[in-house]
Amino acid sequence: MAIAHPAGWPLARVDPMSPMGKTADEAEGQHDFVLVASRLPVDRVENPDGELDWRPSPGGLVTALEPLMRAARGVWIGWSGDAGPAPGSFRVNGLDLVGVGLSAEQVLDYYEGFCNATLWPLYHDVIAPPQFHRRWWDAYVAVNRYLAQAAVAQAAPGATVWVHDYQLQLVPRMVREQRSDVRIGFFNHIPFPGYEIFAQLPWRRQVIDGLLGADLLGFQRRADAANFLRACRRAAGLPTRGSAVRVIDAAGAREVRAEAFPISIDSAALEEIARRETVRKRAAEIRLALDQPETLLLGIDRLDYTKGILHRLKAYGELLNEGRLGPRVVLVQVASPSRERVEAYQMLRDDVELIVSRINGDHAEVGSPPVHYLHQSYPREEMVALYLSADVMLVTPLRDGMNLVAKEYVSCRYDESGALVLSEFTGSADELSGAFLVNPHDIEGLKDTIVRAATISPAEARRRMRAMRRRVREHDVAHWAATFLDALGQTRG
Ligand code: G6P
Repeated sequence: MAIAHPAGWPLARVDPMSPMGKTADEAEGQHDFVLVASRLPVDRVENPDGELDWRPSPGGLVTALEPLMRAARGVWIGWSGDAGPAPGSFRVNGLDLVGVGLSAEQVLDYYEGFCNATLWPLYHDVIAPPQFHRRWWDAYVAVNRYLAQAAVAQAAPGATVWVHDYQLQLVPRMVREQRSDVRIGFFNHIPFPGYEIFAQLPWRRQVIDGLLGADLLGFQRRADAANFLRACRRAAGLPTRGSAVRVIDAAGAREVRAEAFPISIDSAALEEIARRETVRKRAAEIRLALDQPETLLLGIDRLDYTKGILHRLKAYGELLNEGRLGPRVVLVQVASPSRERVEAYQMLRDDVELIVSRINGDHAEVGSPPVHYLHQSYPREEMVALYLSADVMLVTPLRDGMNLVAKEYVSCRYDESGALVLSEFTGSADELSGAFLVNPHDIEGLKDTIVRAATISPAEARRRMRAMRRRVREHDVAHWAATFLDALGQTRG
């Protein structure tokens, strides 16, 4: 089946840049498992000969689904992250991928606009004001249709199609309209807001209807599923019973379930990296480079206004003023660049950099600033070394669907040392009972909690860390995927 790109580009059949050449399109229409996500699990890179190539971007999702993708003739459909023609079908490390292409205009209107300046702030409790533009909505519909078409083309009769995240909420309905034979799951990686907030969206009915094309809807927390069910009642007037919504569409009446499936990480793989001698050595080097602090606080986030970085810095600055953390304390804050063309992100960067330089200006001595701010992305091993080097991990989002950094930190701490300060507005807070929970808006409370976490006894740290590690080990990303797909398999018949 030919897939027309909304901007007029054909979806390439073969990717000459793929080391393994053509693949997935040979099998078009023959995939029993089709994953549709906004992004592909690979990055486009230049290899040493100056040629463009693909490098796997290791994420929990791809690790968890790899075995299934291989066993079930799976294919992953998504965007490469660059404006330009569709990369088409190719294979990396034995995984069949189909890359769709977005025009520069679609990147602006769909990705930076509707996804990241409308839905993202709206779904994170309007921490930044969402913008509503009809032109952005039109681009969202067009790109969702484009990805839905790609899924329809790849799915074998009776296949399972799993759609991911807020960028693709219309895809379930668009697939169902053409393929009543496939089973459709959707998982929302970010929060689903309370109705009073969701109701602001001028296209709220269409979004609800798009999602209800699925057989099963997964959310991070029970509260997110409850918010969605309420939106079905209020915005669409649909009856709900327990976790089920009763929907009537072309095929007649059916029930769609909306439930919580908290996502996780590949905990064992992370622990394996943490145990490597090279990584442990690197962790020691980091502490040495920081002049062997007594207390090393660590923050690792995408530079995003949902992460509460400013609140964390404010609390830390005040603690330094008050001398409550002793003289030999240091904060390492990694803030990896993100969505840099979106205005709210540019403003946040300015605000963060202003406060970091104020704190350093007020408290640094030559060669030892109290904040090490790193606006960079790091390879996995370096991140793990950072996790190992820290005494206290600060995870203080104002709102976060899950927050996997918290789970990564505890997975790396195989010696059961270290403390986690965790915002109660994260999905992880439901699971990590050994964390020091905080309301990041309460700066006094945040300060007290940081001091407590930095001064607990090794025995208490061990007790807390052990409980958190057990939880993440037993509920890893493979467990999450299996639980969701089992539940999806039980829908319909
Ligand atoms: C969150 C979202 C993902 C998104 C990621 C990075 O984790 O849930 O869907 O891919 O942020 O954002 P980006 O805009 O770079 O894809």
